[in-house]
Amino acid sequence: MCRVICLFLLLLPSLSKAEDGSRLWLRGKTDYHAIVSSNRKSPVIDVAVQELQTQWAGGKVQLVVSSGKAFENLGKDGFMIVGNKDSGVTIQALTEHGVLYGAYHLLRLQQTGAISGELNITETPKYAIRMLNHWDNLNGSIERGYAGRSLWKWEQLPDTISPRYKEYARANASVGINGTVLNNVNASPNILKDDYLRKVKILADIFRPYGVKVYLSVNFSTPSVLGGLADSDPLSPAVLQWWKDKVKEIYQLIPDFGGFLVKANSEGQPGPHDYGRTHAEGANMLATALKPYHGIVIWRAFVYAPNSDDRAKQAYHEFVPLDGKFMDNVIIQVKNGPVDFQPREPFTPLFGAMRKTPLMVEFQITQEYLGFSNHLAYLAPLFKECLDSDTYCNGAGSTVAKLTDGTLTPNPLTAIAGVANTGEDTNWTGHHFAQANWYCFGRLAWNHSLTSEQIADEWIRMTFTPDESFVKPVKEMMLTSRETVVDYMMPLGLHHIFAEGHHYGPQPWHEKASREDWTARYYHKADASGIGFDRTTSGSNAVSQYFPPLNETFNSLSACPENLLLWFHHVSWNHKMKNGRSLWDELCYKYDAGVQQVREYQKMWDRMEKYTDAERFQHVQSRLKIQSRDAVWWKDACLLYFQTFSNQPIPYNIERPVHELDDLKQIRLNLRNTN
Ligand code: GCU
Repeated sequence: MCRVICLFLLLLPSLSKAEDGSRLWLRGKTDYHAIVSSNRKSPVIDVAVQELQTQWAGGKVQLVVSSGKAFENLGKDGFMIVGNKDSGVTIQALTEHGVLYGAYHLLRLQQTGAISGELNITETPKYAIRMLNHWDNLNGSIERGYAGRSLWKWEQLPDTISPRYKEYARANASVGINGTVLNNVNASPNILKDDYLRKVKILADIFRPYGVKVYLSVNFSTPSVLGGLADSDPLSPAVLQWWKDKVKEIYQLIPDFGGFLVKANSEGQPGPHDYGRTHAEGANMLATALKPYHGIVIWRAFVYAPNSDDRAKQAYHEFVPLDGKFMDNVIIQVKNGPVDFQPREPFTPLFGAMRKTPLMVEFQITQEYLGFSNHLAYLAPLFKECLDSDTYCNGAGSTVAKLTDGTLTPNPLTAIAGVANTGEDTNWTGHHFAQANWYCFGRLAWNHSLTSEQIADEWIRMTFTPDESFVKPVKEMMLTSRETVVDYMMPLGLHHIFAEGHHYGPQPWHEKASREDWTARYYHKADASGIGFDRTTSGSNAVSQYFPPLNETFNSLSACPENLLLWFHHVSWNHKMKNGRSLWDELCYKYDAGVQQVREYQKMWDRMEKYTDAERFQHVQSRLKIQSRDAVWWKDACLLYFQTFSNQPIPYNIERPVHELDDLKQIRLNLRNTN
């Protein structure tokens, strides 16, 4: 008897193996000995072979890199998988990268229990470049990073190599991400110093076998700040020469370097306007330097000046006149919404308005405006809402996705970017469920027609368990979670009423800043008559930047979708909503619904205890408590403050405020934002 118990105790640690989230969704068994052969040998193929040998539980696998018509259609990264799990599988592709993505696809099918019968799969990615943007600073902090400090240990490189560099590349490759911008868009010129470039080279070398190319954010003033030139005027031959020399130096170290990402003349960053030049002149100068090496320039359209023009309109004004003026190795990176990664925004009207220039979407995976790594918000529905938005630029069906993936515009470049949520936390992303946002970004970048549900389903099975008793309710929670955050933070089209600076909690009363558009009042404009930003033809006229019939839809109080109502209209408190309630009542019910929904998530998660490991269970449980408290804080702050204008009672059948407005106004947070 004792022997049995002792044996049991010995076995116990391995049965209840610690689950700290470090393995992400890559939790398949790794002790198989599959037979894998290949017609090509290379570092990329070696990765594919090794992954399959250790994780594939079926018959032999053949990896084939082939040329020929059938394969050309697969493009650079596509693949075909044919065969049968037991008798053998062949992964074929035009390139070794295609084979690698095929290997990860096959393993995902196995891990999600989706392999049955004969396999006959063809996959090609929708975007050629699928990249993460890291807002990591050279001092190890991360702008808007909520999972600890930077993964890149600049002070230790190039000599000491963290094992996480390889794990990072592997995780990206497993979801098809093939590019990474290592440093913050608010870029330090120092990243282009020789010693930093040697560190960057090491990272590029580690990422290369996983197909992940390195890009850098550059500061437009680098020639003058670092190179000692008199200025950084893009039309100065000396400046162009400086960039040409620098680019040559980079390519000598990193022959497959991807290119530069540039934030110029935005939020105090230098740029071509400093010299009276246009964005196109600035971008083309860098593109000229990169062109001989097939490097690209990713030029951001996130610009707004401290003037009285509606911030949501400004990128359009600056960029549309430049359409067609950019070199063919320039792509314009546009945030999904016209203001700034809000819980809900309409799509940016630049999509559809610049047909002669490649445009790419920039999403924010890190939850700057969705509760950091404290709140559970699954972002696939937000990403898809933008990608599936119909711009009507070419009649119905001209979605943002089709405009950016090359379907509706023969773009030489197609790309998509997500601002990364990774850091040195053991679980990579702070909240275990925030891993799903990295994962879903990669999956949508590969195939934007996947549904949010399909992706959540895959992720849950791989990351937690395939047990339906867990998958079903957890998926339901994930799928509703973004809308829940919208409800308790900014329902009905409200936006940017965050606390100044850190953007975590509510501060709708914020009305004094160095710029009006850095206050919350600028965005909600609540007064005795109502609430909302009038962007109709009688207001800022931002609606006119959209194509018909959208401009008319948004312009009309009755036709405007209610989830964007206060984005486009200043609406009377007594306005009758479609469900018959007044606007004020509806606002109250929405805030309350958000709070109640988080409470439901708590109850549901507690029921999941028996299906998951203690470590992740408790971690998520404790974050849900924070989210629940924060939701009440948001609701009370917003309703009590807006009530000072509406002068109406909070409907009596919803939960009463538990805070005093004056107390809420005193809250000063010391947040875990490494910035
Ligand atoms: C937001 C964010 C900044 C960031 C900027 C950008 O404004 O708060 O931290 O630098 O976006 O995207 O450039």
